[in-house]
Amino acid sequence: MNAALITGANRGIGLAFAQSYAKDGWRVFATCRIPAKAKELDKLAAGSGGRVTVHALDVADGKAINALGQALRAESIDVLLNNAGVYDPSPSFGRTDYDAWEHVFRVNTMAALRMAEAFVEQVARSDKKLMAGISSGMGSIADNGSGGYYAYRTSKSALQMVMRSLAMDLAPRGIVAVAMNPGWVKTDMGGPGGTLSPEESARRMRAVFDKLTPNDSGKFWHHTGKEFPW
Ligand SMILES: NC(=O)c1ccc[n+]([C@@H]2O[C@H](COP(=O)([O-])OP(=O)(O)OC[C@H]3O[C@@H](n4cnc5c(N)ncnc54)[C@H](OP(=O)(O)O)[C@@H]3O)[C@@H](O)[C@H]2O)c1
Repeated sequence: MNAALITGANRGIGLAFAQSYAKDGWRVFATCRIPAKAKELDKLAAGSGGRVTVHALDVADGKAINALGQALRAESIDVLLNNAGVYDPSPSFGRTDYDAWEHVFRVNTMAALRMAEAFVEQVARSDKKLMAGISSGMGSIADNGSGGYYAYRTSKSALQMVMRSLAMDLAPRGIVAVAMNPGWVKTDMGGPGGTLSPEESARRMRAVFDKLTPNDSGKFWHHTGKEFPW
C-alpha cells in the first residue's frame, strides 16, 4: 500500500490532499498542530479503517519533527508533502516585523529540510520516493511584478532552493524532490477570490506527481504540469 505524509493536513490544500489519497486507498499520515481541533481529519480517520492516522506536529518545532521521524521510523513513505505554510504578517515596505519573518522561515522553508532529514530513510525505502514542497508563484523571482510580501516571497524562494539541493543530494538514493506552485486556491490563506478549489489544486498536483521521472527532479512545477519560472 502506498503511503503519504502530509504536514498541515487539517485544512485547506493539506486536507484536500489527505482526503484525495485516502479515497484512493493510500495509507495517510496526516499531521497537524492540534489534532483535538481537527474535526474534518478526525472524520476522515474514523471512516478509514485505520489507514488514516492523525499525528500532532508543529513544523516550527525541530525536536517534534525528529520525534515523529523516530516514532514512524519503521514506515515506508512514498510521498512526503511539505504543505504547512504561513502567509506574510507584514506585507508592505516600512511595516516589516523581523521576528515574524524568522517564524515564516522556520515554517515555510526550514521545516522542509528538517522533514527531509527526519524522514529520508522512510522515503528511500518506498516505491515512489517523492518529496514535494508546496511553494507559490509568489516565490518566483521572475514572476515578481508587484513587490512587497518580503517574508512570504523569500521563504518560498528559499524553499525552492531547498528542494533543488535535495534533488541533487538525494538522487543517489533514487529520491525525486520538487517544488510545486498550487495556483491561487480558495482557502483561508488564498481567500474567496481563488480560481481553484483545494480539491482541484490537490488533484492537479497529484497528476503532476504521477508523471515525474528522475529527470524532472529539482524543478519548480505549476499545477498544470508545466515548469514554472524560478
Ligand atoms: N491558497 C493559495 O492560494 C496558495 C497559493 C500558493 C501557495 N500556497 C501554499 O499552499 C500551502 C497550503 O496553503 P493553504 O492555502 O491550504 O493555507 P491554509 O488554509 O491557511 O492552511 C495552512 C495550513 O498550514 C498549517 N500550519 C501553519 N503553521 C504551521 C505550523 N507551525 N506547523 C504545522 N502546521 C502549520 C495550518 O495549520 P493550523 O490550522 O494549525 O494553523 C494549516 O493546516 C501553504 O504552504 C501555502 O503557502 C497556497
